[in-house]
Amino acid sequence: MRGGVTALPDLVSSLLAVPLPRLVDAVLDRLVVPGYSRLGYAARRAGFRALPAGGMAGRTVIVTGASSGLGAATVRGLAGLGARVEMVVRDRERGERAREAVLAEHPGAAVEVAVCDVSSLADVRRYAAEVRDREAAVHGLVHNAGVLATERTETAEGHEVTLATHVLGPFLLTRELRPVLRAGAGPTAPSRVVFVSSGGMYTAPLRLDDPESREGDWSGGAVYARTRRMQVVLAELLADDLAGDGIVVHSMHPGWADTPGVARSLPGFHRVTGPLLRTDEQGADTVVWLQAAAEPGHSTGVFWHDRAPRPTHWLPRAAESPQARAALWTLCVSDTAHR
Ligand SMILES: NC(=O)c1ccc[n+]([C@@H]2O[C@H](COP(=O)([O-])OP(=O)(O)OC[C@H]3O[C@@H](n4cnc5c(N)ncnc54)[C@H](OP(=O)(O)O)[C@@H]3O)[C@@H](O)[C@H]2O)c1
Repeated sequence: MRGGVTALPDLVSSLLAVPLPRLVDAVLDRLVVPGYSRLGYAARRAGFRALPAGGMAGRTVIVTGASSGLGAATVRGLAGLGARVEMVVRDRERGERAREAVLAEHPGAAVEVAVCDVSSLADVRRYAAEVRDREAAVHGLVHNAGVLATERTETAEGHEVTLATHVLGPFLLTRELRPVLRAGAGPTAPSRVVFVSSGGMYTAPLRLDDPESREGDWSGGAVYARTRRMQVVLAELLADDLAGDGIVVHSMHPGWADTPGVARSLPGFHRVTGPLLRTDEQGADTVVWLQAAAEPGHSTGVFWHDRAPRPTHWLPRAAESPQARAALWTLCVSDTAHR
């Protein structure tokens, strides 16, 4: 059964040797399962242009959550294009093992491991200061670290862990690295910040009445989706904030990929959808493309999936108010202020 289903994407791909018409692409997207699974990737990849070999030479990119899954695949993809990559991990030993795997695939690649818990604002500050001290310029930052919590826990600083990992830590890291990202930006080559969000954000409006998720029954899935929505709006807000510095900011969702995180956090989903899940490379493809391709360097504040801009709401009237967007910015600024 598994073999039959996994062969299907290849069949789809060989039947579609031409780029997918936009309408068909949009329909796949709205139907979710075909768009988010391997089928969607297989159908769309005929329209993907190969990224130029060595196209990332001379560029330094920082990737968080790089020890497994999509983060590790992103590092492999960027290293394969000649980028110098810093793998930000929580556990040095796991990070070094992931680095060995990258080097096995790309011998001689410039890949290093750095330890930082992105949910800890103090650790983010420490790490960013260290980067500013040793790097004249950074050209890319990928906020990939993510968590689907099973119970409500707080960081040492008193923030709910999902909010801290997906929103507060990345916000602070981006702002703290601003000087080196600005230094990395050239007149025709902006520095690039990418948020790896999730299609789950479509299920959640922007809500700021209980950002630390203290009220009501705890649901890890609901908090995950809510913070993913925050990431997408935050990418738009940071895009405006950083535009004058030659830094573009994008968000994306990877579809559904077979990673350790999915197997561990969503065992039922993993079992049922297993044969349809993307590989980690397929899930990470758009992240690598957002760092490497010309097109996303010409825009900012866009939400992407499979190398195409996607709507951030199914219904335009569901879009968040300017007041809610401003409240998200205020929350991020005040929660990450140095005390
Ligand atoms: N796979 C999918 O289908 C899918 C779909 C939508 C969105 N995503 C998102 O894509 C990203 C990558 O996920 P994945 O599927 O590749 O899962 P994964 O294998 O569990 O990778 C998540 C990575 O984030 C790291 N991480 C978690 N909390 C961290 C923290 N506080 N500081 C630093 N690193 C931290 C983990 O490090 P440890 O090794 O130390 O735990 C791990 O390396 C996540 O943000 C995930 O939510 C994935």
